[in-house]
Amino acid sequence: MKKIILDCDPGMDDSMAIVMAVKSEALDVLAVTAVNGNYPVDVTSKNARKVLELLGRTDIPAARGMAGPIIRKSPPDPFTHGKDGQAEAYLPEPTMPLADLDAVDLIIQLVKANPGEVTLIATGPMSNIAMAMIKAPEIKEMIPEIVAISGAFGLNKYAFLNATGDTPQSEWNVYVDPEAAKVVYESGVRLVALGLDVATYFDVNFSDADVKRLEESDKKEADFLANAIRFVKKRGFDAYCTVIDCMAVAYAIDPTLVETMEAHVGVETKDGLTLGMTVIDRRHHFVWEQLPLIQVGCSADCGRFLQMLLELVLK
Ligand code: BDR
Ligand code: CA
Repeated sequence: MKKIILDCDPGMDDSMAIVMAVKSEALDVLAVTAVNGNYPVDVTSKNARKVLELLGRTDIPAARGMAGPIIRKSPPDPFTHGKDGQAEAYLPEPTMPLADLDAVDLIIQLVKANPGEVTLIATGPMSNIAMAMIKAPEIKEMIPEIVAISGAFGLNKYAFLNATGDTPQSEWNVYVDPEAAKVVYESGVRLVALGLDVATYFDVNFSDADVKRLEESDKKEADFLANAIRFVKKRGFDAYCTVIDCMAVAYAIDPTLVETMEAHVGVETKDGLTLGMTVIDRRHHFVWEQLPLIQVGCSADCGRFLQMLLELVLK
């Protein structure tokens, strides 16, 4: 089993990412760490615990992390995950306590206790992970890989048409805390950035038959997903919005789902039109080699991804 920490900002799709990770037999979830992002961290850390309780996995520690980006103020989210941040499923209030350590310290502790073994899955802004690297730089050498829903690279039609940040070509997780993303991109840790190019295939969606299977299941997590799909559709969005973050978990389970390429990428931290852009240098000549080399998702087998997701949710 691959040891992982899931750092997230639930969020309906982060909630589904927790479901997938916890139910997968390929992953050993050491902790779920919550960060400010889709909602303030009080909400995201509560929502993470709601999902763990729904799954009966209160043995997995859930920690509260950074209340905002590492330098700037948190922006308002133009997209809404509903009044409760979970597509208005209104899951019961959690009774499990938060972990004793906050998310930053828990990440540091778990990485140090399992050197070379803990993959970080990041489905929210990278504030917790960047702060852990700033506080304990020695952990960088102990992290084998970070798999993140991060960026928009302009590699296909999906990259910018539904850009989630509040500038024309940025992705929300980078847009919220670009300085944190820059720290992580430049950390030297192997980073697999699954951007909107591979996580927002708006024309590959759940079929009506899939939704029916979810609705007829007796699993609470299936009911949660069916409700989220109805919620986004009612508001004029496509069903894929409910599972964007699941692509990072799916990749951690089976990396053959996504084709990646190695490229130099810079994160734009200047305010204005391009804030939060992840600028890829694909030139044949004069490449800016000073930009960090990362693994960028270029295309995904979305059909196989949805199949894996449904199998895990329904089992
Ligand atoms: C990201 O934005 C958030 O709203 C989602 O949870 C996902 O992590 C996609 O850009
Ligand atoms: Ca998220």
